[in-house]
Amino acid sequence: MSILVTGGAGYIGSHTCVELLNKGEDIIVIDNFYNSKPEALKRVKEITGKDFQSYTCDILDKETLSAIFKENNITEVIHFAGLKAVGESCRLPLAYYHNNISGTVILLQVMEQFGVKKIVFSSSATVYGDSEIPYKEIYKTGNVTSPYGRTKFMIEEILKDVYRSDNDWSVALLRYFNPIGAHESGKIGEDPNGIPNNLVPYIAQVAIGKLAELPVYGNDYETPDGTGVRDYIHVTDLAVGHLKAVEFVRKSAGLEAINLGAGKGYSVLEVIAAFEKASGKKINYKFFDRRPGDIDMFYADAEKAEKLLGFRTKLSIDKMCEDTWRWQSDNPGGY
Ligand code: NAD
Ligand code: UD1
Repeated sequence: MSILVTGGAGYIGSHTCVELLNKGEDIIVIDNFYNSKPEALKRVKEITGKDFQSYTCDILDKETLSAIFKENNITEVIHFAGLKAVGESCRLPLAYYHNNISGTVILLQVMEQFGVKKIVFSSSATVYGDSEIPYKEIYKTGNVTSPYGRTKFMIEEILKDVYRSDNDWSVALLRYFNPIGAHESGKIGEDPNGIPNNLVPYIAQVAIGKLAELPVYGNDYETPDGTGVRDYIHVTDLAVGHLKAVEFVRKSAGLEAINLGAGKGYSVLEVIAAFEKASGKKINYKFFDRRPGDIDMFYADAEKAEKLLGFRTKLSIDKMCEDTWRWQSDNPGGY
């Protein structure tokens, strides 16, 4: 009995593999390594001292995917594989729709063919659009601002239709807030291509001297210090959330959307201060206009995760910054 982890070499996937292996689960990883390196899987093995099967496989390749299901006794799927860059998705919407949506449909077809009906899906809090804090799972979704966000919304809708058509399915739609941090060993972490789009990888590169100055987008938001507030979740906490979600889909059939966030927000200036403390480095920054599409405050109502999964985040913003810094300074060039 194995859990298939699609996109398992990626940032969140690799951390989840560590937690699954530490818990004694059998895993099989597939990845096309479009946005990751096989080295990440090597390091997962180093951290855990455990071996597992991995395949270079694109989820769009139905034949290879079917062969993998045939060769292995897969009982659940955690589906991370997807493209995730918001800006790029505006330039290349068809690539995003094809990879994320067609890829998921093919994966679901193969799962159905092999009678595997338990899936944990990487959705995103972006499906909510701009609404009222704290964000609750009952809020209306679909008011998204990018093709990337729309793929997450559409895949949620596809999974709802699949469940409606066959109530034997068990589906967890995990809506992540802002994952940051790295494994505390410093061996695995986020390895962005080019100049990072997201706040913490950008700060980390300023701290290490690769980038000169952090642009802070907006200081006139309706927040205590005027900068944007987000719900940051340590990637190890997020990984533990996936363990709980697998246990949940194993137990019974159904479909649930569940927020994975800390339920608490930090402003850009608070994150900068935490990172300065963790790294002992001064982070140079300059205020710029608001980034289009950004909102002032965004954080989760984390109660449903606690009730259904028994999941609550444990790791603080200081720990998120310390672990990011360890990963960044031990691996200045990434993997
Ligand atoms: P990532 O890019 O590090 O990992 C995704 C992995 O999927 C990569 O290893 C990539 O090579 C692989 N992949 C992509 N397309 C594939 C395909 N067609 N076939 C096989 N493998 C493929 O991203 P991540 O940050 O680990 O995110 C994982 C998932 O969580 C994604 O679906 C992402 O959209 C979602 N998510 C991420 C965030 C975030 O802030 N990181 C927030 C919300 C949701
Ligand atoms: C972004 C995506 C979201 C995605 C998430 C993944 C957008 C509009 N949203 O969320 O869809 O799910 O990443 O983690 O791209 N900031 C700066 N300077 C920077 C970068 C960011 O000031 O160089 C600020 C932003 O204005 C925001 C906060 O930092 O207030 C967090 O930004 P970011 O890390 O990009 O995450 P989100 O915008 O929340």
